[in-house]
Amino acid sequence: MQIVVERSENLSGEVQVPGAKNSVLKLMAVTVLAEGTYRIGNVPDIADVATMCELLEAIGLRCHRPNPHQLEIVNSGNIRPVAPFEIVDRIRASINLLGPLLSRFGSVSLGLPGGDDFGDRPIDLHVAGLTAMGATFDMTPTEVRATTKGLRGTEIVLRFPSVGATENLLTAAVLAEGETIIDNAAREPEINDLCSMLIDMGADIRGVGTDRLTIVGVQPSDLRAVDHDVINDRVQAATYIAAVGVAKGEVFVRGGRAEHMEMLLNRYAEMGISIIPQSDGLRVSCGRRLRAIDFATLPYPGIATDYKPLLVGMLAVAEGTGVATENLYPGRFRYVDELMKMGADVRIDGHHAVIRGVEKLTGTEVVAPDIRAGAALVVAGLAATGTTTISQVHHIDRGYDDLVGRLAALGARVSRRS
Ligand code: EPU
Repeated sequence: MQIVVERSENLSGEVQVPGAKNSVLKLMAVTVLAEGTYRIGNVPDIADVATMCELLEAIGLRCHRPNPHQLEIVNSGNIRPVAPFEIVDRIRASINLLGPLLSRFGSVSLGLPGGDDFGDRPIDLHVAGLTAMGATFDMTPTEVRATTKGLRGTEIVLRFPSVGATENLLTAAVLAEGETIIDNAAREPEINDLCSMLIDMGADIRGVGTDRLTIVGVQPSDLRAVDHDVINDRVQAATYIAAVGVAKGEVFVRGGRAEHMEMLLNRYAEMGISIIPQSDGLRVSCGRRLRAIDFATLPYPGIATDYKPLLVGMLAVAEGTGVATENLYPGRFRYVDELMKMGADVRIDGHHAVIRGVEKLTGTEVVAPDIRAGAALVVAGLAATGTTTISQVHHIDRGYDDLVGRLAALGARVSRRS
């Protein structure tokens, strides 16, 4: 399967932002905590959701999809907290089962998760936090096993506000004895979404949205299954805005939420994109060549590392020179080689990339190295003369709900080819 992109101009119309991958997968993981039927709405139709369903079914839950945007997960209590490596390896978010399974069942065995191929993705913060709460770990290169006689609340100061570690410690703390404090917690909107579902389920969590979460443990019998709608995906929203930036035009990004992406929107505005937040979305327009900016990735509320490939692609065709600094994943510049095949002028120096904007890119054959970089190559293709053919698009399908269909509906010349 490939995605074929032709140079496109003047996008117009409306695009609906789908639910967030990095929220729904975590919401799915906490359904192991309480028996009952969960109904999750605004589910993105992406491959990672299907993989997470497979994983939940492998440990004993049932997962139905009455339609592609709805999930019904049934926890009837028959859970074996042993997750098979061959599924876990396909999805990074499987690590989110560690905290809930351990706290609910006292033991867990999980293959070590795969996910994106942009460098080391350690879990030492997850392990140290859970150990401080009373877990014992036995790790091999391909498996993490943990047991506990009962988790106890404690104060954990994260050396870095890791999204995954915050989520695992938070979900483990829901059933731990006493009070857990997570200091320097990550505070991405997707974590707030997880907290909101857990609170509905009966968890006692305070400080939601701040970098200090306080969780007072409850009993398993205090928790219940709930219905919950996933928040919209800020990275997919950012992708459609980037598309308007490179192809120009006027588009309404329905369901885009300015309060979840404030810093990015400020930078987009500096580049010359007009973004007017409205109650139900973002009115986006751009009529001129983008201007270069410098930016650095940081934990929320900073510019997310997941936005970076889009910004680098935009800088490739902007007026002037921009510097991108990656502070989270030093190896996350692999896709730059692909952009350079299209004529981008980029120099990498450690965790910085210097991008000199060129008038136009030239379409050629490129490979999607991961979800976000793959989508950025599709967007860059809109600004390239000739035909850009992107292969390995299964990466994009892991996290994007019909990127091609949504862009095509805005007038972009993009299609899939098998
Ligand atoms: N880190 C550690 N030790 C740990 C955990 C993390 O050193 O125990 C370091 C990592 O090496 C990295 C940094 O902390 O340098 C950030 O990692 P974090 O734990 O915050 O990321 P994550 O939970 O593994 C999530 C998203 C990523 C996104 C990052 C950063 C999911 C499933 N993944 O990963 O999203 O890039 O947060 O915002 O939520 C994507 O969606 O394409 C994607 C890769």
